[in-house]
Amino acid sequence: MALHQATASAPVNIACIKYWGKRDTKLILPTNSSLSVTLDQDHLRSTTTSRADPSFERDRLWLNGVEEEIKDGGRTATCIAELKRLRREEVEDKQPNEPKLSTYAVHIASYNNFPTAAGLASSASGFAALVSSLAQLYSLPVSPSTLSLIARQGSGSACRSLYGGFVAWDQGSNPTGIDSLAREVAPQSHWPDIHALICVVSDDKKGTSSTSGMQRTVETSELLQHRINHVVPQRLKAIEEAILKKDFDSFAQITMADSNQFHAVALDTEPPIFYLNDVSRAIIALIVEYNRVSVAAGRGRRAAYTYDAGPNAVIYTLKENVKEIVELVVKYFPQREGSFKDVFELFAGVDVAA
Ligand code: PMV
Repeated sequence: MALHQATASAPVNIACIKYWGKRDTKLILPTNSSLSVTLDQDHLRSTTTSRADPSFERDRLWLNGVEEEIKDGGRTATCIAELKRLRREEVEDKQPNEPKLSTYAVHIASYNNFPTAAGLASSASGFAALVSSLAQLYSLPVSPSTLSLIARQGSGSACRSLYGGFVAWDQGSNPTGIDSLAREVAPQSHWPDIHALICVVSDDKKGTSSTSGMQRTVETSELLQHRINHVVPQRLKAIEEAILKKDFDSFAQITMADSNQFHAVALDTEPPIFYLNDVSRAIIALIVEYNRVSVAAGRGRRAAYTYDAGPNAVIYTLKENVKEIVELVVKYFPQREGSFKDVFELFAGVDVAA
């Protein structure tokens, strides 16, 4: 009998314009659009294998070898149900000779090649890989944008990992979520010189999850309303332009401003949320000084820090500066217990392998 199995990988993405806040918590519809860079496939990625078999009694999931419960009506269950529905509608109803895989239970095993919950967006690569592997298993004739609609319901930021390179997530306005999907702004090949340095300040599990943090921010922060209505729309336009023009100075200025505002919005939440620690702040100071010297020399900004819901820094820079910045970081943040842990260089971009 045929073996119905498929494996797919998806990389992590790191946002330059942050998604923070849901207007619909079930469908995961955001309160603002966002934009990210998808990192290199080889370094930080999730790889997921899915198998469908008539002998399986129920859907099951293993993360890094440990079984996780698939809760009824939860995010994983929603993604699996959506992909089974597409299999039925797009394949089985149209081609009656195809096996009825949508009626079989699936077993899914996913591995990350980096520590989970290190503030490195493992949920983004995880759900993108899960959706890609099931789409492949079911031979779905759909675009990455359509798959992004499903990955979004697993973890919002996951929708952006369906594309490589520079990716926007348009918030959309339809209450069904049909227009809240990922869009490629530019492929990685457009600007291959952009590199990302990941500075692992701490690999502890983060304090406040993005889900509960966002909910509290939406309920209590006035600054979030200002951000959504008066800041993000202009910033998105400007950063897309900077990417298309390969204008690193503007890209860096906007990326750092948006990271700062995201963390300001977290602080404006009641009770306040602190994701950065002293080492994170010291890395910000180092990059600010690096850029000050660079601007004074007429070379513009040459590095951009950004932080997600955790203390780890991602520094975007052009290839020619990587060595210098790594040397600076290592000089000022020698590895010691409780402080800076590791720095590894990644090439941003590269398309998701099917
Ligand atoms: O998709 P989530 O629930 O993991 O939220 C991600 C939130 C940030 O990483 C802070 C910002 C972003 O756009 O990725």
